[in-house]
Amino acid sequence: MKKLLSVILAVVMVLSLGAVAFADEVPNSEKPVIWFNRQPSNSTTGELDMDALTFNDKTYYVGFDAKQGAELQGQMIVDYLQAHGEGLDRNGDGIIGYVLCIGDIGHNDSIARTRGARKALGTAVPDASQGKTEIETIDDVDPTAVGTNLDGTSSAVQDGAITIDGTEYVVRELASQEMKNNSGATWDAPTAGTAIMTWSASFGDQIDVVVSNNDGMGMAVFNAWSKDNNVPTFGYDANSDAVAAIADGYCGTISQNADVQAYLTLRVMRNALDDADIMTGISTPDAAGNVLSEDIYKYDEETRCFYALNGAVTAENYESYLDATAANPAFSNQLTEEDAPVKKVWLDIFNSTDNFLNATYKPQLENYDGILNLDVEYIAGDGQTEANITDRLANPSEYDGFAINMVKTDNAASYTSKLQ
Ligand code: BGC
Ligand code: CA
Repeated sequence: MKKLLSVILAVVMVLSLGAVAFADEVPNSEKPVIWFNRQPSNSTTGELDMDALTFNDKTYYVGFDAKQGAELQGQMIVDYLQAHGEGLDRNGDGIIGYVLCIGDIGHNDSIARTRGARKALGTAVPDASQGKTEIETIDDVDPTAVGTNLDGTSSAVQDGAITIDGTEYVVRELASQEMKNNSGATWDAPTAGTAIMTWSASFGDQIDVVVSNNDGMGMAVFNAWSKDNNVPTFGYDANSDAVAAIADGYCGTISQNADVQAYLTLRVMRNALDDADIMTGISTPDAAGNVLSEDIYKYDEETRCFYALNGAVTAENYESYLDATAANPAFSNQLTEEDAPVKKVWLDIFNSTDNFLNATYKPQLENYDGILNLDVEYIAGDGQTEANITDRLANPSEYDGFAINMVKTDNAASYTSKLQ
């Protein structure tokens, strides 16, 4: 009897060892890593972190084309000013004064938007820290925040000029600052709401336009001040609340096509998990017929980065953008479990209060996770420290892949070190 028991025990042990070995078959260091929304890069120079982007052969980044979107935002603002000259210069001083809400001075998307707005408005100066002496593209523009610049003497910007209906105006960036709260969270909407109250209390009659690096901050300003004062306000992201506010006078925003980005984030994960051609369901239809149209994204093979393209959302077209969380029928076809067996994915959103990521991006991820048979565990960060998130990646062996949204774009190694 004793012998039989020990034989059984041995068999059970061998079987369970086998099971453990099976679950652990793929070393963590070889599992897919998809960076999204915050591109691994040097937060001072913007240089891509190629170590992070090539962590293994299943590593990619998914974002959107920051430069194209920033140019579009600048153009949208200028087009609006050209078309709405009357009453624009509220205090009649001949200056179109604007204030600028900066999201995160170390985030490529934020830097691009600051540059795009300044270049379009003629207030840009060459970025001396990069050794630039002239401006050819927005990449050459100094993105430094000015603080306040009521007299136009800041060295980070210059006075621009714009002719509207035959009248020439000076364009001045009256103020700009990074909207960072006391605990360190960036793109912080409440901080923008407070900033506009401070600015307007001291030079409100000089503010003719508000430009924001995103809708979270833009809407905070709109609700706190510019709506009541009829001051044109522009954001970025096309969150549902911002698009709806266009009916109430919010002037415009940019859609970064969160549906495309969310799909790409999970799609690239799926393809990497399946060892499939990385363009499956992207440039070529997958087994269920999902595919992206080629005018909506770009892929840079060398840096392994996918980028959704952007579109302007204004009073002319906003009605078709009212639901930012709607799934896109072109890539909403359910995969079978035969074609794509269920896999477990760890995914974090760096800040549980970021408007765009939580109101728009996450619902979009939730549209596609089930369709792609990915069982995603969503982790919400505090927006301030990487450890708050990485501490919750205690056992990477439980997951088949990782989709990562960093607090700070320099910090990729705090995640990849967990996978070594
Ligand atoms: C969005 C911002 C958001 C940021 C978070 C950007 O792409 O436009 O709204 O706060 O990502 O990283
Ligand atoms: Ca004025």
